[in-house]
Amino acid sequence: MKVVNNASLKDIFNTSIYDFNNFKKDKLHEICPYTAMFPPKLANSLIENYSTTGQTVYDPFSGRGTTLLQSRLLNRKAYASDLNPLALVLSKAKSKKISINLINKRINELEKTYANSKKIIIDYLDYEYMKTYFSDEIYNQLIFVKNLIGIN
Ligand SMILES: C[S@@+](CC[C@H](N)C(=O)[O-])C[C@H]1O[C@@H](n2cnc3c(N)ncnc32)[C@H](O)[C@@H]1O
Repeated sequence: MKVVNNASLKDIFNTSIYDFNNFKKDKLHEICPYTAMFPPKLANSLIENYSTTGQTVYDPFSGRGTTLLQSRLLNRKAYASDLNPLALVLSKAKSKKISINLINKRINELEKTYANSKKIIIDYLDYEYMKTYFSDEIYNQLIFVKNLIGIN
C-alpha cells in the first residue's frame, strides 16, 4: 500500500502514484448524475492505494455510490451511508451484483404492476409545468417509479 501523508486533492491529482488511465470501469457508475460526484478513476486510485483486497471500505457520504461500486469492483467489502434519500436509492443499486435476467424479470413485474395501477397524474401539482417536458404516459410512468422507490 502506498501512502501520501496530508495529501490535498491537488497533490493527489498531480502525484505519479495514481494511474488514472488504467482502472476498473463499469457502466453502472453512469446510472445517474449527482452533485459533486467523484470521477470513478479517483475513487479507484484512492481505494487501490489505501486498502488491499478483502479489506473494508466505508464511505459515510456516499452520494451516488461511486466509492461503494468501485470498492466492490476492486474486491473490497464495501459499506456506505448518506442522509439524502436519493443517494440511498442510487447507492443501494450499486451494493450488489445483479444479472441481466434479474433486471428483465423486475422490468416485466413492473410493467404488469404499472398496467394495473391507477393513473394518478392529475393529483400532481406540477403537472401543468411538467407537461411541457413529458407526455402524459411518460409522466405517469415517472410518478409510478418515484412512488415505488419512495421519492416524493
Ligand atoms: C459531495 S457528495 C458525495 C458524492 C460522492 N462521492 C459520489 O461520487 O457520488 C456529499 C454527500 O454527503 C452527504 N452528506 C452531507 N452531510 C451529511 C451528513 N451529516 N451525514 C450523512 N451524509 C451527509 C450529502 O447528502 C451528499 O450526498
